[in-house]
Amino acid sequence: MYDNNPTLVGIQKKIDESRQGEAFYREQAEGAGQSSKRFYIESYGCQMNFSDSEIVASILADSGYQPTRFLEEADLILINTCSIREKAEETVRKRLRIFDKVKGQRPGTLVGVLGCMAERLKSKFLEEEKLVDLVVGPDAYRDLPSLIGTAEDGDKGINVFLSREETYADISPLRLDSNGVAAFISIMRGCDNMCSFCVVPFTRGRERSRNAFSIVAEAAGLFEKGYREVTLLGQNVDSYKWENPEDGERVTFARLLEMVAKVSPELRVRFSTSHPKDITDEVLFTIARYENICSYIHLPVQSGNSRILELMNRTYGREWYMNKVRRIYEVIPDCAISSDIITGFCTETEEEHQDTLSMIEFARYSMSYMFYYSERPGTLAARKYEDDVPMKVKKRRLQEVIRLQTQVSFQHNLKDIGKAFKVLIEGDSKRSDKDFKGRNSQNKMVVFPKVEGLKPGDYCYVKINKATSATLKGEIVEGPEG
Ligand code: 5AD
Ligand code: SF4
Repeated sequence: MYDNNPTLVGIQKKIDESRQGEAFYREQAEGAGQSSKRFYIESYGCQMNFSDSEIVASILADSGYQPTRFLEEADLILINTCSIREKAEETVRKRLRIFDKVKGQRPGTLVGVLGCMAERLKSKFLEEEKLVDLVVGPDAYRDLPSLIGTAEDGDKGINVFLSREETYADISPLRLDSNGVAAFISIMRGCDNMCSFCVVPFTRGRERSRNAFSIVAEAAGLFEKGYREVTLLGQNVDSYKWENPEDGERVTFARLLEMVAKVSPELRVRFSTSHPKDITDEVLFTIARYENICSYIHLPVQSGNSRILELMNRTYGREWYMNKVRRIYEVIPDCAISSDIITGFCTETEEEHQDTLSMIEFARYSMSYMFYYSERPGTLAARKYEDDVPMKVKKRRLQEVIRLQTQVSFQHNLKDIGKAFKVLIEGDSKRSDKDFKGRNSQNKMVVFPKVEGLKPGDYCYVKINKATSATLKGEIVEGPEG
């Protein structure tokens, strides 16, 4: 679930130039008056972090802060951080250097570190980065207003307490850089899986699921505001479980999907991320049953080799994963599957790497997020195994994986030529304001010439006539038959 671009992890948060986003900032600023303080927030890493920043924005707005897009006019600069790989942390440290300079020019400005790095480094952050005023972990955002008060009084504000209950269920996120069409909804927090390479269970704590009714209410509220797509977010959505205290009804992820799908047939439902061990037939049948639940599953394999998967503590092997993929295509024949892949995990041999390559072909991934292994302090792998694959080899294997995935993605897209897809229009294409961009159910970006009368948030049918490994191109047609 990390970004929309494999190389994006840790890269500066894109400032969305959508009109709706601009309008939001303008309205907030105009309503704010001269005296109110402004916060600037930058987010890195996974979609969950972007979603958390919207919760933070809501908490700050309630305590009188207004958002700004301009670093230089902020009274409070926040950076929502990612620890998943070393590189992500390096990027954050670089940004902190820049914030220091801004602070130098505007004394009194506070700088706060939020999210996974805050949690991982705790008070060490304050020792290492002297000019950071606030360190706030992912479960402590409600405490921000009081921590800001502490920092304003000249002390350091720190809260990295991890909770077993916090889901921010009652907080209505402030949609910061939204296109007004698609939004994220967090349905759970934390992770209990303990994949040996992963720092997330340490930075985000134990898994807990959010009240199902608050999720449905958030989806309904977004639909009323004109949104037409929601992505249900969690580190491991298929292990979502919530019990209604009133009647004891147990809501599984399949049931939750159905509840959200029923908000309106015009509201598309996506979700991320699925752990292969937890995705059930019931979920697959639910996806197949509802046209508005998208035919797309992000099903990270990590490695195609059973021995490596065991070392990774993924709790499935190669054959088991392959059967899951077969089952998905059987139940949802038009489903696109994507993956996360790590190359050069501890002790990985060339043959084992070949198994990952062959898995990409077997599973026919529409796309993958691909990384070389980066040892993270405190993880099971860091404690138990030697990080013994040389960097050069890790990177070469990564290049091989990327090359093959690009070919497989291209083949996947070529198969779409001649088909007509229902597309949800998201806005102007990046290259030309004469074209719209939108996505089909399989989560593929589709670019096509605008026609009169259609606008972002509308659905249309597009017949595909051209494909690259990343995008489909086509023209609007009357209906599914093209
Ligand atoms: N090194 C490289 N990639 C990692 N990921 C998680 N931890 C690491 C690590 N230590 C990748 C996994 C995961 C994705 C979110 O990031 O592929 O699914
Ligand atoms: Fe990390 Fe594994 Fe949990 Fe994903 S499922 S967050 S990779 S521990």
